[in-house]
Amino acid sequence: MTEPPVPLISGDALKASTMAFAVWLRTKIETEQSGIFTIFDKWFARLLTRLTEFDQDRSWEAGVREAAALAPDHGRALEWDLLRLRLFLDRWTQGRYVTFARREASRRHYHPHYGSEFGSEIFLTCQGAPALLRWRGLPLMKTVFDFAIYPMLIDEVRPRTVIELGSGTGASAVWLADHLATLGIAGHVHSVDLVAAGLEHPGVTFHQGDCQDPAALFGGAVTFARAPHPWLVVEDAHVNVEAVLHHFHQSLEPGDYLVIEDTDVKREDLRRFLAAHPGCYLVDTKYTDYFGRNATCANDSILVRTGPDGTVPAPEGAPGTSR
Ligand SMILES: C[S@@+](CC[C@H](N)C(=O)[O-])C[C@H]1O[C@@H](n2cnc3c(N)ncnc32)[C@H](O)[C@@H]1O
Repeated sequence: MTEPPVPLISGDALKASTMAFAVWLRTKIETEQSGIFTIFDKWFARLLTRLTEFDQDRSWEAGVREAAALAPDHGRALEWDLLRLRLFLDRWTQGRYVTFARREASRRHYHPHYGSEFGSEIFLTCQGAPALLRWRGLPLMKTVFDFAIYPMLIDEVRPRTVIELGSGTGASAVWLADHLATLGIAGHVHSVDLVAAGLEHPGVTFHQGDCQDPAALFGGAVTFARAPHPWLVVEDAHVNVEAVLHHFHQSLEPGDYLVIEDTDVKREDLRRFLAAHPGCYLVDTKYTDYFGRNATCANDSILVRTGPDGTVPAPEGAPGTSR
């Protein structure tokens, strides 16, 4: 399952991908933004202008190295920009759905702990510092990135069943159910914790249960056997993770989503689980990388269940779901 490390995109491939991306970006700006540039769009346009000023018979990497040697202050900023571009295009050229093994193979280009282009300077404060994010006045333990990612994912996947393992205060289940309702999805949230959260919401059932024994828990008092698909399963209890994932694998259907939060402490469980089910899951990088590579607590672990041919069925979601 492990793939050898892959080098970052460079040389002519970097130039060709940049130009292909420039065409894609121009279309996006015109069709989705009425010609108005985002911060990212402006950054890319400025950088492209700068890079195309170099002697095009040489690599951009060589041009930038030379500029940095001549004017260290300005050159260092350009080096940073070029690295950002290479990291971005490395992802963009891989497409939306990527194997976990491929993600691991390019991990070395990123933060060693988070596998993200961000480190503690962002993750330290992204759940609130020190106050937590709140929904309907209740604290919930999401990062600000995930606070934005889940509603978009729900809008596209339109899950009829959301299963959350680890309710916390119950606020996250209420938040998920509110999004189902707002988006007109006839879905229901089931949220499990050692002690059932004491909140009332028509779209949520809070269950009492222990994830230490998933077969006993979900085959007994709590069963989802007849719950309609698509499913969105969110593992946020951090207990017996590999066994819990194996348990849900038996019920997941193509197009269902499995999100494992706080993967940095569960990566070994995830590796073993995915190795046991080769070809069954792909990382949906539209969401893991929406705000930069692994700008989520679910790093490399927003997973979609593939069909028998290893591909992802088109979601019945809202229009405008391309990356
Ligand atoms: C990180 S919190 C959940 C946060 C919540 N989902 C949110 O986003 O705000 C983890 C939860 O897992 C629960 N938990 C711990 N061990 C558990 C177990 N064995 N079975 C079920 N839930 C468990 C804890 O009680 C805690 O509420």
